[in-house]
Amino acid sequence: MVYSALLLGALVAVPAFGQTFRRTAACPDLGCVFPPDQTDFIAGQTFDLRIEVQAPVNGSEAYNNGTPDANFSLKIGGQGGDLVDAAQFFGLSDPEVEKYNFTYYEDLFAEDAKAPTPVNVLAKSYRNLQLHNPGTYEVELSYNNGQTTKATWTVVPLADCKKAKNVIFFVGDGMAGSMLSAARLLGHKTINGKYQSKLALDEAPGYGSQMTHSLDSFITDSANSASALFSGKKMTVNGLNAYTDSTGKAYGDPKVETIFEMFRRIEGGQVGIVSKAYIADATPAAVCTHTSQRSQYTAIIEQYLNGVAGNYSWFPWEGVDLLFGGGGENFLPGPGNGNVSQFDRWAEYGYQVGYTKTELEAFDNAQRALAIFTQGNVSTWLDQNVYTDLLDLAVTPQGKRGARDQPGLKDMTLKAIDILHTRAKERNTGFMLMSEAALIDKEMHVLDIDRALGEVLELDDTVRATLKHLEEIGELEETLIVVTADHGHGFDVFGSADTKYLQQQNSDRSKRSAIGTYQNSGLSAYQVPQDVLPTNHTIFPSPQGDGFPVTWDPRYTIAHGWAAIPDHREDFEVNKDHERVPAVKNTTGYFFNPEDNQRGFAMTGNLGTGEGQGVHSLVDVPVYAFGPGHELFRGVMNSPDLAFRVAQALDLGRSSNVTTSYRK
Ligand SMILES: *[C@@H]1O[C@H](CO)[C@@H](O)[C@H](O)[C@H]1NC(C)=O
Ligand SMILES: *[C@@H]1O[C@H](CO)[C@@H](O)[C@H](O)[C@H]1NC(C)=O
Ligand SMILES: *[C@@H]1O[C@H](CO)[C@@H](O)[C@H](O)[C@H]1NC(C)=O
Ligand SMILES: *[C@@H]1O[C@H](CO)[C@@H](O)[C@H](O)[C@H]1NC(C)=O
Ligand SMILES: *[C@@H]1O[C@H](CO)[C@@H](O)[C@H](O)[C@H]1NC(C)=O
Ligand SMILES: *[C@@H]1O[C@H](CO)[C@@H](O)[C@H](O)[C@H]1NC(C)=O
Ligand SMILES: *[C@@H]1O[C@H](CO)[C@@H](O)[C@H](O)[C@H]1NC(C)=O
Ligand SMILES: *[C@@H]1O[C@H](CO)[C@@H](O)[C@H](O)[C@H]1NC(C)=O
Ligand SMILES: *[C@@H]1O[C@H](CO)[C@@H](O)[C@H](O)[C@H]1NC(C)=O
Ligand SMILES: [Zn+2]
Repeated sequence: MVYSALLLGALVAVPAFGQTFRRTAACPDLGCVFPPDQTDFIAGQTFDLRIEVQAPVNGSEAYNNGTPDANFSLKIGGQGGDLVDAAQFFGLSDPEVEKYNFTYYEDLFAEDAKAPTPVNVLAKSYRNLQLHNPGTYEVELSYNNGQTTKATWTVVPLADCKKAKNVIFFVGDGMAGSMLSAARLLGHKTINGKYQSKLALDEAPGYGSQMTHSLDSFITDSANSASALFSGKKMTVNGLNAYTDSTGKAYGDPKVETIFEMFRRIEGGQVGIVSKAYIADATPAAVCTHTSQRSQYTAIIEQYLNGVAGNYSWFPWEGVDLLFGGGGENFLPGPGNGNVSQFDRWAEYGYQVGYTKTELEAFDNAQRALAIFTQGNVSTWLDQNVYTDLLDLAVTPQGKRGARDQPGLKDMTLKAIDILHTRAKERNTGFMLMSEAALIDKEMHVLDIDRALGEVLELDDTVRATLKHLEEIGELEETLIVVTADHGHGFDVFGSADTKYLQQQNSDRSKRSAIGTYQNSGLSAYQVPQDVLPTNHTIFPSPQGDGFPVTWDPRYTIAHGWAAIPDHREDFEVNKDHERVPAVKNTTGYFFNPEDNQRGFAMTGNLGTGEGQGVHSLVDVPVYAFGPGHELFRGVMNSPDLAFRVAQALDLGRSSNVTTSYRK
């Protein structure tokens, strides 16, 4: 009797974490420690430490009628040695205790029943900390009469030499290896099985892969995956270099310093950001901003300029040296900005400000720069170079239709290198640039394969041009180039499609006969020499040189698909006069967009009907490296490893607190 009652009790008490409905990420017990167990640090990397003691009022984890234990303590020490009080260990006075509550749903049943679980919390934050000695540390939170939550942290060994002066970190957002295979097929020609030219990335001397999963879920978003790449810490969805604590607030969360910020603090190095997305988007923001909510665009723009403001700041961040991308809407005067134009404000801070490719190219290389070319995202490579009528629909930063004078990723990246290099040389330091091919992801989400692969090829072309340009300016031997993705999409190519035949069939089943697999997939028709193309095919002499398709609308296109789809129709043809919208919403969710791919066959979605686009996937993504330290980027890595390897190449680990005054 007694035993079975205990057993039942034990079964009922199994908490429901593990899937969607976590109480607090990385906090399986009622005591939470951030950074959590298994965190690695660069020596001297700045971070905040936060602890929480939680008491759910009801639900499967109910504790003490929802009254958290006020008698809790936090100790830390080297592994195997004595643990000492955390405030004493870090030489701080004991932080004040915060007291608040939040609610969460335990699972889908609780949500359906609208039965949330309230949780009362006591918490403390220890801010602006550093660990300087490599080795393993034990952190122990004691609460609830002897219960403990432990974390083991590792400070990785110091580098034994500095390999690189500069780092250029390219992110192909959402770029799975399968997309590079497809891009190679479109952009390069084979003769009897031998490629006559290759991707620039195919020549990388450092090549490996990395796992993209996040702290608390196996599918990541771009904020937490980029934070892992840039700070070496896995985060929760929407988290930018800040752990998502239980307050639900955006800025107080425990923060971690990124490699870009360390480079600035320690060496006074130049830091630049380039992206084809709106510039407050997650990947650019992960370079040097801190919030658990990536949608805080106004604050992100402010952090680019001034760092984290108020009580949570660590050290004077003198602003990024350049910021190029889209997203004019976040710079215009509005209530979120105190009705002040951020363009004017940045100009007052000494930045040259531009809105077009012409203005970008005219920038003085010795001065800091802000260049924003559009509202929203910069136009795709396909729209800038092939189907240019769509530029009439693109919107200027000030809100007018017809943003025609836009740069591509290559233009922005090469100009960024010139400015950073000039300024770094004058200050006897190095530079770090993050350049993002952001629209690979955005076009993959909407299943617009030609636009997405155009962006992949543009990234490859940009890497090729970057290597050449670094050689011209004498920095090739000093610059580590890393190219990777923040996550993939479940995309692949499985054959070819005879679009002419497909169009002329009148049932979904017969349209599928247009797909040729195995030997019937044939060769790439995107590389057919111009003189054998039918005269009426649109021909595009590669506007940026080799490495792009000769035509984007051959009769035989790639047959392709995704692991995650909304309801949509597939015709395997390029969308010449519009960007793709696969599904549209009505009162019961997303359905086939009646305007999209009308000649195609229907594919029923496999996502929840609330999703109108594809989603990120689990696949490991490729890592490429060139230049000094490239040999560090080999084998199977986890996303945080990239931050540690860049830090190793730049020798960022420090056995004491170093802050160099930065000269604007
Ligand atoms: C507080 O906790 C410590 C150990 O965690 C214990 O030794 C002490 O008796 C507790 N004090 C009270 C008032 O419960
Ligand atoms: C949560 O906090 C609010 C305000 O501090 C308080 O009124 C409320 O009773 C608390 N809820 C629970 C379940 O303790
Ligand atoms: C917990 O208690 C609240 C009232 O404080 C109630 O609304 C909610 O349904 C309860 N949740 C569960 C999971 O029992
Ligand atoms: C490191 O040094 C800077 C400048 O002296 C100081 O502002 C900062 O608080 C120090 N950080 C730590 C963790 O000691
Ligand atoms: C900083 O802390 C002080 C004292 O705790 C508080 O009054 C102030 O509102 C805080 N400022 C910000 C920006 O959080
Ligand atoms: C900004 O403008 C809006 C609307 O004109 C006004 O309601 C708001 O008070 C202004 N905010 C500031 C900080 O001036
Ligand atoms: C830019 O991309 C984001 C994310 O996909 C999307 O929500 C937004 O609508 C895009 N903006 C424009 C103007 O296309
Ligand atoms: C080519 O297109 C033009 C107009 O688009 C049409 O008049 C002509 O007949 C076409 N020629 C062939 C060979 O299909
Ligand atoms: C939503 O659209 C789909 C496709 O057009 C249609 O089958 C369905 O009945 C619509 N539902 C509602 C509630 O309008
Ligand atoms: Zn992404």
